[in-house]
Amino acid sequence: MTFIDRVTAFFASIFASILAFFSALFVRRSRAPPIDLEAKIIDISPDPTPQPTPHGSPRLLSAAEVFDSVGPAYEDAFQGLPTQAAAIDWLVDELDKTHPRGGARIVDVGCGTGRPACSVLADAGHDVLGIDISEAMLRAARERVPNARFELMDVRAFLEREKNNAGTYDAVTIFFSLIAGVTQADIREIHAGLARLLKPGGFMVFSTVPLPVENESIKWMGRPLVVSSLSPEDAVASVSAAGLDIIYQGVTQFLPRASEAGICKPDEVWEEPHLFVYARKA
Ligand SMILES: *[C@@H]1O[C@H](CO)[C@@H](O)[C@H](O)[C@H]1NC(C)=O
Repeated sequence: MTFIDRVTAFFASIFASILAFFSALFVRRSRAPPIDLEAKIIDISPDPTPQPTPHGSPRLLSAAEVFDSVGPAYEDAFQGLPTQAAAIDWLVDELDKTHPRGGARIVDVGCGTGRPACSVLADAGHDVLGIDISEAMLRAARERVPNARFELMDVRAFLEREKNNAGTYDAVTIFFSLIAGVTQADIREIHAGLARLLKPGGFMVFSTVPLPVENESIKWMGRPLVVSSLSPEDAVASVSAAGLDIIYQGVTQFLPRASEAGICKPDEVWEEPHLFVYARKA
C-alpha cells in the first residue's frame, strides 16, 4: 500500500464508522418510522372520534384533546422510563446540596399525571407546581400527588403570568411536553422564558423526541395531531442559547407500552428516540 492508499483507507474506515453510527440511529426509523407523516387513515381509540372536515380530510386534534383522550394511562405507557427516573434522581441530588431541608421552588411543565416528576420532587420536600393543558391528566395528578400544586395552563400563559418573577425558581422540568401544538420558534422562546425564571445556579431538565420537524401532521398513538421538534443538536443549542450551561445530554430509544396500557393498538406504537438535557444557569 502506498502512503496515499493508507491515508485513504484510514479516512474511509472513519467514514464507515460514522455512517454505521448514524445508521444505527436512523435506518431502523426510516424502515419503520416512529411517526406516520401521512396521517391519512383515521382510527382513533378510545373516543373521541374526530369529525371529518368538509374536505374529507381528518380533523387534527389539539394537544389538549390528544392528552385528554390518552388520559392517565399515559403514566402506565411510560412507567419506569429509566432515563426519566435518572434525570429526576439527578435533580433531587443536586437540590439536596442547595436545599438540604427541601423547599426548592420548582415548576414542572406538562406534568401529566404528576408522576413520576412532581411526586418524587414533592416527596423530597420541595415546593412543586405542575402545569398541564389536559384537564383529565390534572384530575389524576391532584389525586395521585396531593403534596404538589397543579394548574390547568399552557406554558406560554404561565410565562406571561410569571413575567415579573424572573430569577425566582430553583428548577424547571420539561418532560416531553414541548412537541404538540408548538412551533420550533415557540420551543426556543419557551426555553428562554423558563431560563429567565431560574435563579442563578438554578436547574433545567429537558427531554423531548428530538426530530427536526416543523408543523408536521402525524399520528401519535393513533391520534392525528400537529407537532414540531428540534434535532438533538438544535435542541441542546436552544437550551444553551437560553443562557444555561449544559451538564449532560444523551439520546436513547424507548418503546412506550401504549397498547398494553390500552391507549392504542400495537401497530400504532413505535420506538421513539429520547433526548435528555440537564442544564444549569450560570
Ligand atoms: C407553523 O405554524 C405556525 C402557526 O401555528 C406558523 O406561524 C409558522 O409559520 C408555521 N411554520 C412553517 C414552517 O410553516
